[in-house]
Amino acid sequence: MKGIVYTEFLEMVESNFSLDLVEQIIDCSDLPSGAIYTTVGTYDYHELLQLVAQMSEATNIAVPDLVRAFGQHLFARFVILFPDFFAEVSSAFEFLQNVDKYIHVEVRKLYPDAELPHFETRLLSRDTLEMIYRSERPFADLAEGLIRGCVAHFGGAMTVDRATVDPTGKKGVRFLLSCPAGVPQCSTYSRR
Ligand code: HEM
Repeated sequence: MKGIVYTEFLEMVESNFSLDLVEQIIDCSDLPSGAIYTTVGTYDYHELLQLVAQMSEATNIAVPDLVRAFGQHLFARFVILFPDFFAEVSSAFEFLQNVDKYIHVEVRKLYPDAELPHFETRLLSRDTLEMIYRSERPFADLAEGLIRGCVAHFGGAMTVDRATVDPTGKKGVRFLLSCPAGVPQCSTYSRR
């Protein structure tokens, strides 16, 4: 996992909780990196899982809730850090359909060793988008948080539902984004 994810995570813990909590979760984890993260470095994703587990223990907030909250925070940070990805995009549906074929492709150019997931997106109707997450890593909650962060950024009133694709749930997680009835064009043009 790229260091930018770690630096953003620890900054979120510090600003939403405290520097003491950052130090505590690092001290309680067994981190080969020694928690010396640089944005361009690459670290075993188990380090992130450990930090989140320690944070859950310290705050009594469930791990999936923490990871989803981090995903939302991370999306807001991406808006600031990578403004070019947002330049010509006017809706959450448009942005999310770009993640696999454009955004993560560009991310790989910036960070050639990035470990990225795959997304299949399908517009089921004008107001319904299906998005299937597949990864060798267990970050569906992060994906959900990023999706929710994206919806919040574009100001959409849409709902995000989640159901696994295969019975094991390990290789694919399906998200369904729907605009509620009576909210015309909530999937499009919400930011222009
Ligand atoms: C400006 C937008 C985005 C940027 C710059 C970006 C960039 C990145 C970067 C740098 C990583 C870390 C790769 C690594 O650790 O090696 C990553 C991972 C990831 N991204 Fe994105 N991303 C963006 C949008 C999204 C969105 C909207 C989603 C969800 C729909 C998403 C889903 C994920 C997930 C779930 C991972 C964790 C790795 C995995 O699950 O295998 N990203 N992304």
